[in-house]
Amino acid sequence: MSVTMIIAIDGPAASGKSTTAKIIADRLDLLYLDTGAMYRAVALYLSAKGIDSADENALRSALEDIDIYFQQIDGSYHIFLNAVDVSSDIRVPHITKMSSEVACIREVRERMVEMQREIAGGHDVILDGRDIGTVVFPNADYKFYLTASLDSRALRRFKEQHEKGIDCDLSEIRVQLAWRDENDSQRAFAPLKKADDAIEIDTTHLSIDQQVEGILQVITATTGERQ
Ligand code: C5P
Repeated sequence: MSVTMIIAIDGPAASGKSTTAKIIADRLDLLYLDTGAMYRAVALYLSAKGIDSADENALRSALEDIDIYFQQIDGSYHIFLNAVDVSSDIRVPHITKMSSEVACIREVRERMVEMQREIAGGHDVILDGRDIGTVVFPNADYKFYLTASLDSRALRRFKEQHEKGIDCDLSEIRVQLAWRDENDSQRAFAPLKKADDAIEIDTTHLSIDQQVEGILQVITATTGERQ
């Protein structure tokens, strides 16, 4: 029987989870699953179709109609919503905010968790999100919880957007991140929180290389043969 390895990376927005997870996926030859992109895709679908998420029937049928898959193209990860590449469309500010709103709905979470387990099934995988170590894979082999101060996360997101040529405002980004932190950690279902057995890493003063090395050291200390 083949044994698979599951690595969970949770933490607040812009704490470096996805950058770190992608590098580790590459280094250890793992499948990478960006679970936040899936909530964003649901938000985009509802927004594009003008579906009110409070309308239970409409929401239920929307969740049945939504198909999500990922593909690596020329080294970067793309998300497809009903066979359409929506990788850029899901990153616009109003979809970012809406993703946090739809992520509060129990039915949405149940469907996403089901899909995440299906996609990850049978693979060595690294997932990043908010509830991976607490709900999606509570028995994950490794759990990390990345944090960083609000100011440093806002600055990182600002620089990221700036480098992509997107016009943005640092103080507005900071306000939006603080709102999402609050909304994601206060919701009733699967709130953002550190799993009791997760290793917490404060990345405020760490470079991406240092974050990656810290995590790899923990993993290779027990599975040295994998690297
Ligand atoms: O990680 P990202 O910022 O792309 O996530 C977008 C939103 O999706 C988060 O603000 C959060 O509300 C939601 N999310 C979640 N559970 C996950 C991943 C993301 O609730 N596992």
